[in-house]
Amino acid sequence: MMGRNLALNALDAGADVSGTDLGDDAVSGFEQEASRDVVATTDLDTFLESLPTPRNILVMVPAGKAVDSVLEGLAPKLSEGDLVIDGGNSFYQDTQRRQSMMDEKGLHFFGMGVSGGEEGARTGPSMMPGGPKEPYSRVAPVLEGMAASVDGEPCVAHLGEGASGHYVKMVHNGIEYGLMQLLAESYDLMKRGGGLGNDRMGDVFGEWNQGALRSYLVEITADILHQPETVTVAPDEMPGHQGPPEGMTGQYLLDFIKDTAKQKGTGKWTSQDAMDLGVPTPTIDAAVTARYVSALKDERVAASSQLGKPAGRAPGDPGDLVEALGGGMLVAFLATYAQGFALLKRASDAYEFGLDPETVARVWRGGCIIRADLLETFREAFRSDPDVPNLLVAPEIAPTVIQNCEPLRDAVRLGVQAGIPTPALATALAYLDAYRSEWLPANLVAAQRDYFGAHTFQRTDKDGTFHAQWMPAGI
Ligand code: 6PG
Repeated sequence: MMGRNLALNALDAGADVSGTDLGDDAVSGFEQEASRDVVATTDLDTFLESLPTPRNILVMVPAGKAVDSVLEGLAPKLSEGDLVIDGGNSFYQDTQRRQSMMDEKGLHFFGMGVSGGEEGARTGPSMMPGGPKEPYSRVAPVLEGMAASVDGEPCVAHLGEGASGHYVKMVHNGIEYGLMQLLAESYDLMKRGGGLGNDRMGDVFGEWNQGALRSYLVEITADILHQPETVTVAPDEMPGHQGPPEGMTGQYLLDFIKDTAKQKGTGKWTSQDAMDLGVPTPTIDAAVTARYVSALKDERVAASSQLGKPAGRAPGDPGDLVEALGGGMLVAFLATYAQGFALLKRASDAYEFGLDPETVARVWRGGCIIRADLLETFREAFRSDPDVPNLLVAPEIAPTVIQNCEPLRDAVRLGVQAGIPTPALATALAYLDAYRSEWLPANLVAAQRDYFGAHTFQRTDKDGTFHAQWMPAGI
């Protein structure tokens, strides 16, 4: 569907489009929905013959082996100078490998992150292409016509060299994981900690969406909380169906959804690559881990009866909790984006992507899952100082951080007191507290390393590398 929707979108943008798919239904579906005559075929040769040369081909297949097999089938039939764009969520190292392979054959290859889901693909996604600049100019007008647009500017741009497009999409998804987990934790704090009902919580997210937190993910969270449960399944029609768990109203669809979240790997890749590059992304890491914990449903159910249910009401007025969360979420969102942009900066240097953070912020302003008003502020921050080491210290952002870090601390404290896990909120706070700590206790870690392994340390009062004769205190 993503591929068909992008093809229909490209048609609307004025391009001549041909489409191919292995399935007859997909092909005839494209033909029927197309606003103009198109070539739609299951035959690859007919498809390729229909395209003017040099060809521009967008491949939309699931990431992984499917991309390799499509390229293996395509490459021998292409001519020098043809361009193939992989619009899936491919791992950037696969994209690098495929780029070299295509390059050797005189073919151009682009990795392009596409965000916005199926609807976005049809109406205006955010697109993150990366690769050789010259062939990009051939497809730029069509991509710009297809992309979401904010203030007249398209949410697509040539982002950089190599696999930069898929890298930027990977980090987009890492941030997506972080923001989603932060929203889930604020829901939990309000629900179990504050005793709020779904409509009230939906209203809170709706109010946040009118202010500085305005974003797609906050907006859909409000919608989700308000959504009624319309399908009623009688227990005898569905063996094993037990209805909503105890304490839930049963009126809302959300209350019927099993509390396990799957993942396809892009968030994990972000954390893994951040670890490889030595860039702290703790809120993204916590969000990835939270999905793994969520998947341990059976173990959690067993442990809850063995170890006791930890979660209860947070002390104080629920209104104070909601108030703390409003400010706390803002700074936690900022910390999550800051981690993602810091990773992009380091990756761009390490992998020679040549990324411009202002352009990334611009492309993320509309169409994508992490679109938010904050992206405009980030864009301004990077425009004033493209080399700012971390968004949290940008003059456009630092005052908001200072103003809202105590509300974040209050929200985390209330969660701790209530026994509600808040790994993403807590790591956002810890990241902030650590990042602004002039001194951290790593002197002790350095001393321990030297004690047991003679790994040496540096001193604050003299240059050089030191090793001490550590003495057992005899206690
Ligand atoms: C987007 C989304 C999209 C998809 C994710 C979901 O930008 O449109 O990120 O790419 O929804 O792949 O990822 P998980 O299955 O890992 O949650």
